[in-house]
Amino acid sequence: MKRMFELLLYGMVQHTVRADCPEDCPARCPQQLEVQSDFVKTQFDIKQFWGVYYEIAYHDSTQPRRWPIRASCQRSVKSQHPGDPKNYKDLFSLNVGFGRGVNAVCDLEFNLTDHPGVFLGHWSGHSIFNPNLTDIHNTVVDVGVAANGTYNWTLEFQCKNAEESKGIRFAAVNFYHRKPQIDAEEFQLMMSRLRARGLGWVVDASPGLTFVDQQKCIDHDSYPSLTAKPALCGQGALQEVMV
Ligand SMILES: *[C@@H]1O[C@H](CO)[C@@H](O)[C@H](O)[C@H]1NC(C)=O
Ligand SMILES: *[C@@H]1O[C@H](CO)[C@@H](O)[C@H](O)[C@H]1NC(C)=O
Ligand SMILES: *[C@@H]1O[C@H](CO)[C@@H](O)[C@H](O)[C@H]1NC(C)=O
Ligand SMILES: *[C@@H]1O[C@H](CO)[C@@H](O)[C@H](O)[C@H]1NC(C)=O
Repeated sequence: MKRMFELLLYGMVQHTVRADCPEDCPARCPQQLEVQSDFVKTQFDIKQFWGVYYEIAYHDSTQPRRWPIRASCQRSVKSQHPGDPKNYKDLFSLNVGFGRGVNAVCDLEFNLTDHPGVFLGHWSGHSIFNPNLTDIHNTVVDVGVAANGTYNWTLEFQCKNAEESKGIRFAAVNFYHRKPQIDAEEFQLMMSRLRARGLGWVVDASPGLTFVDQQKCIDHDSYPSLTAKPALCGQGALQEVMV
């Protein structure tokens, strides 16, 4: 049963990945430093980045958004990698199905670089939500700074060029917030900050931006625990490290 579920998800993802960004995109991914706000470039502090964020909206072909599998409750738990100061962990979860649903938990990892907020992701080729997408650049585009210095929201942009001489194979943006639901005004602020960095094309490209249903997991109290083990989306090698 579980295997069938995985295969079904895999099929859905394959379908969406092939369709990613065939048009309405620049010829190549922009340089990571080019799309960061001045604040992120000069003052981003990774210690203020750790913790729990809920995804408010996304353009991301690795997150199932079509019937019969529409993901809800996407959440990102970011922490320092326990054994490697140049690496961080992003426990990314989502929920599918009726009622309390079923949680998939992906153990993503990102290498830090010499530049603040400029990361390199390592996603297992076996991960059902990210098939064959390894070594993805992930960039913190902008953040909302709370009075105590922590970030109350972040905009993250991932991009991978096609291997052929031109074209973008994968382009995604995630609107993350400390709160699972935000008002329209705050969302518009995040959107305007994304557009100010020249990344409007990511949300304008087909199929546009998808809003995440967080109400489902609030109603059913069904978010996974913050220390949940990878499920339906594990990277085998990393699971061995974690146990
Ligand atoms: C990313 O981090 C892993 C684990 O520390 C390391 O093995 C790998 O070489 C790093 N990759 C790059 C491109 O720095
Ligand atoms: C996965 O990526 C490798 C190298 O980038 C490529 O040679 C291979 O054809 C890809 N496999 C699939 C199923 O897309
Ligand atoms: C969240 O960030 C915004 C900047 O985008 C800031 O104006 C606001 O005060 C912050 N909210 C909290 C609760 O700190
Ligand atoms: C910082 O401020 C935010 C927003 O007011 C709050 O949710 C968070 O708990 C505070 N964090 C610390 C470490 O004080």
